[in-house]
Amino acid sequence: MATNARIAPSILSADFSILGDEVRRAEAGGADIIHVDVMDGHFVPNLTIGPLVVDSLRPVTGLELDVHLMIEKPWEYIPEFAKAGADSITIHIETCPEPEDVIQQIHDLGKRAGITLCPGTPLETIKKVAAMVERVLIMSVEPGFGGQSFMPDQLEKARTLVAWRQQDGHHYDIQIDGGIKAHNARECAEAGVEVFVAGSAVFDADDYQTSIAELRASALGDR
Ligand code: DX5
Ligand code: ZN
Repeated sequence: MATNARIAPSILSADFSILGDEVRRAEAGGADIIHVDVMDGHFVPNLTIGPLVVDSLRPVTGLELDVHLMIEKPWEYIPEFAKAGADSITIHIETCPEPEDVIQQIHDLGKRAGITLCPGTPLETIKKVAAMVERVLIMSVEPGFGGQSFMPDQLEKARTLVAWRQQDGHHYDIQIDGGIKAHNARECAEAGVEVFVAGSAVFDADDYQTSIAELRASALGDR
């Protein structure tokens, strides 16, 4: 069973009229990471936020700002997100014909790099960059919206990622995003997931300390 589970509330489900307070409450409630969903209305059918919001949140929290780029041509915007204060930047393999170059770009800006893939994309597509990245993000919903249902068949990817890491000495952490709740975090942890993105499960609750603690307890097998 896992001994460590990091919880990454996704601000997509926060109240944007008081976003700074929402992030402070998540941090005070025990969040480990703040997950920032960036959507461009092209790669996914939704529009969210840009570097300006990351810049505004930077002084609000000391936590890792984990930027998930669901945008076409991510390399055109990565410098701005880095400058705004992102700590880690995750790109979709589907958006990058030359992912090695984009990961190198993120590293050259002094940031941690993540790679992710949509549910229908085979894990083998990211194998060639597995050695380069600090994070692999498994999408357990179609990217674009919060509040969707978890796709348990994606956990096979976590098991394979654990095996690759053991065999080849990779250093990535294994993150999951989409439909994560207290009732399914445990099966994710058992498959090898270490970082749990949760939007609605955290921000739709009245008390973020409780919702974060429930997710962590589930992941650690304490409930
Ligand atoms: C979906 C986003 C997720 C989303 C998760 O495209 O990447 O981060 O906010 O929301 P929940 O936890 O509600 O599924
Ligand atoms: Zn996300």
